[in-house]
Amino acid sequence: MAIISSKKQPQEPNGQPQKQHQDSVKASCDQELLQAEAAIDEQGKQEESIRPHRFADYIGQKDLKDVLDIAIKAAKSRSEVLDHLLLYGPPGLGKTTMAMILASEMGVNYKITSAPALERPRDIVGLLVNLKPGDILFVDEIHRLSRMTEEILYPAMEDYRLDITIGKGSSARIRSLPLSKFTLVGATTRVGALTSPLRDRFGLVQKLRFYEVDELSKIVLRTAQLLQTPITENGATEIAKRSRGTPRIANRLLKRVRDYAEVKNSGEINEGVAGEALQLFQVDPCGLDWTDRKMLSVIIEQFNGGPVGLETIAAATGEDTQTIEEVYEPYLMQIGYLSRTPRGRTATTAAYKHLGFKPPNEQMSLL
Ligand SMILES: Nc1ncnc2c1ncn2[C@@H]1O[C@H](COP(=O)(O)OP(=O)(O)OP(=O)(O)O)[C@@H](O)[C@H]1O
Ligand SMILES: [Mg+2]
Repeated sequence: MAIISSKKQPQEPNGQPQKQHQDSVKASCDQELLQAEAAIDEQGKQEESIRPHRFADYIGQKDLKDVLDIAIKAAKSRSEVLDHLLLYGPPGLGKTTMAMILASEMGVNYKITSAPALERPRDIVGLLVNLKPGDILFVDEIHRLSRMTEEILYPAMEDYRLDITIGKGSSARIRSLPLSKFTLVGATTRVGALTSPLRDRFGLVQKLRFYEVDELSKIVLRTAQLLQTPITENGATEIAKRSRGTPRIANRLLKRVRDYAEVKNSGEINEGVAGEALQLFQVDPCGLDWTDRKMLSVIIEQFNGGPVGLETIAAATGEDTQTIEEVYEPYLMQIGYLSRTPRGRTATTAAYKHLGFKPPNEQMSLL
């Protein structure tokens, strides 16, 4: 789960780049639709009910699945534990889901925790000593581990050993306790923030990538089936196109479109109904939300397309720099609307066109 800004920003209708003054008054819950971060409580529970539990149901991420399939088969054939695995990538792409699938494919138990919950050394010690052979320990937001917790993990990961310091000062002694052989699965949205000794102790380091529209369509169709919602293939594609390459967002948009279809139509989701509903919820055809569009329009309107520093973009959008770097920028770069240069961020020609501005080269040719 990524650290997120709880700040809610209103949205701007698609293709209306000049209407910035309206931004602040258009606060609406729609903004949350395009947030990929794990939702809390109720939404979190709903997410559990649609989470795939087997490899076969985990759609897309072919490279990741191929690597893990081999690792699982090799570990099983040698009756060994799976190597420690680090999964990284933007929120909502399926890191936690994959960790759970690994446990079920290996036929082992798993424990899930998050680095901020492991502040004191005894938190991680308690977890480690209770692991059974082969168990998977999943640590979310692993880049946020405290130094002491990290140092306890080094020998635990490398030699399945717990080194405990007893006493203080010159009389301090280190006692080592053996641990069961286990697999640590770490997840992070910021692989660059991991210390290198920790990163080096993972035998497998795998990146999750954004999903293609056809993969997201399959995810939407699968979820619709679980929710017993009638949907056409075109309806699923329409939702998939606006989901920012992210399964969590695809599932969330599906639920909103389902509400719309039930209230306004016969209940079936087709292309037209999905389009109408998503327009009502102000979800842009590319899946961009208010902050994305604000970021791009600030770069274009106030800085002639950039380069602009991250801090300036953060101040203009009211988001923190970390959220912009981890949540917004990866997708904007993926679809080719934003590029990062050593001097700052620049908007691309495609971004100008999407927001209804004339790209700089066309402006020049008019002179
Ligand atoms: N490959 C997939 N196939 C089908 N559904 C998926 C897939 N990946 C993710 N999902 C769905 O998306 C939801 C979010 O996935 P998950 O919680 O694993 O993301 P995450 O990468 O752990 O996110 P975060 O960084 O916020 O913790 C899950 O509930 C699941 O239903
Ligand atoms: Mg997660």
